[in-house]
Amino acid sequence: MQRKGIILAGGSGTRLYPITMAVSKQLLPVYDKPMIFYPLSVLMLAQIREVAIITTPQDQEQFIRLFGDGSQYGLSLTWIVQDSPDGLAQAYTLAEDFLAGAPSALILGDNIFFGHGLPSLLAQADANKHGGTVFAYRVADPERYGVVAFEDQKVRQIIEKPQNPPSNYAVTGLYFLDGDAPARAKEIRPSERGELEITSLLQMYLDENLLDVQTMGRGFAWLDTGTHGTLLEAGSFVRTLTERQGMQTGSLDEIAWSNKWIDDAALEERAKLFTKSTYGAYLHSLLSD
Ligand code: G1P
Repeated sequence: MQRKGIILAGGSGTRLYPITMAVSKQLLPVYDKPMIFYPLSVLMLAQIREVAIITTPQDQEQFIRLFGDGSQYGLSLTWIVQDSPDGLAQAYTLAEDFLAGAPSALILGDNIFFGHGLPSLLAQADANKHGGTVFAYRVADPERYGVVAFEDQKVRQIIEKPQNPPSNYAVTGLYFLDGDAPARAKEIRPSERGELEITSLLQMYLDENLLDVQTMGRGFAWLDTGTHGTLLEAGSFVRTLTERQGMQTGSLDEIAWSNKWIDDAALEERAKLFTKSTYGAYLHSLLSD
């Protein structure tokens, strides 16, 4: 069965108040694009064309205005509402009908990945059909994340926001799991902070020796957008790359076109939509290169 994608873009974004009082966090700009473009680009780089986007009830309309049915990118989008943010693992129960037994790649709507070789890392994770694959990334502040505990160089535990982190390796917000994830998610009990933790789900896979934890090396950037400062830093990072290389990161139109999901004429149409922005000029330049 073909792997399907899920983007979790719910949540109340209270850590970014007052900016997120009237607009979803995942629609905030990261330099020149709405934040959600970046995680969607990762799913597209993983060759996933069927994607469900989970939002709060009140934000759904704006996301639909942004993406419609996704056909402009050769995607098929499904819209799912999360009435209350009860934890990341809830994404699997909400998406159960959409997945219909298929394996999935869940990405958090505020996670940004960049790095040479990302498509092959994603292809490897996709090829692992039984169990799951997650990515561990070294960070200076592991206590803010799910953290990997190693024993004899093997991953034994994944602990959510530990006060005393057993390592500096955080689990990123990109989870490749098999078709059992929705059924397993139903077995999870809420944590002390009252959430259905994704780390509890991962621990189930780990306990059965079904979880592959891949390290994302120092050549990758996994950026955080959780605070005002890190949001600004993520924007600066994208700006630096874009201006230095004259190439876009997170351009859904470009990825759709290079995946051959849309043809030259369709890309031209898209470029016309954006003639007044540098983004339009960029799409034009792809066609003339
Ligand atoms: C969530 C997960 C955590 C993971 C992080 C990645 O944390 O619970 O395990 O490391 O995403 O972004 P949250 O964003 O809910 O604080």
